[in-house]
Amino acid sequence: MREAGRINAEVRAILREAVRPGVSGVELDTLAKREIARRDAVPTFVGYAPGGRPPYPGAICYSVNEVLVHGIPDERRLEEGDIVSIDLGVTYRGWVSDAAFTAPVGHVAPELLALLDATERAMWAGIEAARPEARLGDVSHAIESCANDYGIVRDYGGHGVGREMHEPPHILNFGKPGTGMKLKRGMVVALEPMFSLGGPATEELSDRWSVRMADRSYSAHFEETIAITDGEAEVLTLIA
Ligand code: MF3
Ligand code: CO
Repeated sequence: MREAGRINAEVRAILREAVRPGVSGVELDTLAKREIARRDAVPTFVGYAPGGRPPYPGAICYSVNEVLVHGIPDERRLEEGDIVSIDLGVTYRGWVSDAAFTAPVGHVAPELLALLDATERAMWAGIEAARPEARLGDVSHAIESCANDYGIVRDYGGHGVGREMHEPPHILNFGKPGTGMKLKRGMVVALEPMFSLGGPATEELSDRWSVRMADRSYSAHFEETIAITDGEAEVLTLIA
């Protein structure tokens, strides 16, 4: 899983460098597919088809502005002022890593930078709380505590990761300290806070994948895959 995580980090670093005005989702997706193949790994998301959905076509989820998660890479070119979430799954020798960031495209409004900053800080607060013997509610609460007035998405959350991308437990981005399952050394989970400038409600679009904020407010999403150790969690997907 470390190797799957390292490859995920390398490819995400390349994608982050490639985000700029004028680039399209399809171009970024092609770049991701090439860089994953070069590393003898497999794009986890390609062909993923849970619950009767059409098979997911991309190596990345590519979610711009009010699209929260699971946006499908398209030909539209990014414009200065956009924010884009890029989520990447990498499978290496049967083990999965799952991680995402939201990046500004060129110069963006200060309130969007603040949204990105709060969402990323929430992820780090969750990682800090993810110690052995801590409970899931402690992690969820640490994430929630960074939300201030932002909308906290309730319809999606973190999850276990292993041979499959989505394994139990489901990890909410809000919760009560001292509740829920205990974390144990050796568990691997993905934490993925999602905050919006408006309300928490989401809606799925007609492509059956893209998830947009119901009030069309801009939204941010960060994710890392982490391993629970004896002390601080080990972040497997960290960009060096
Ligand atoms: N990475 C997403 C998650 O964290 C899942 C991607 S869905 C897929 O839950 F279809 F793109 F694979
Ligand atoms: Co995930």
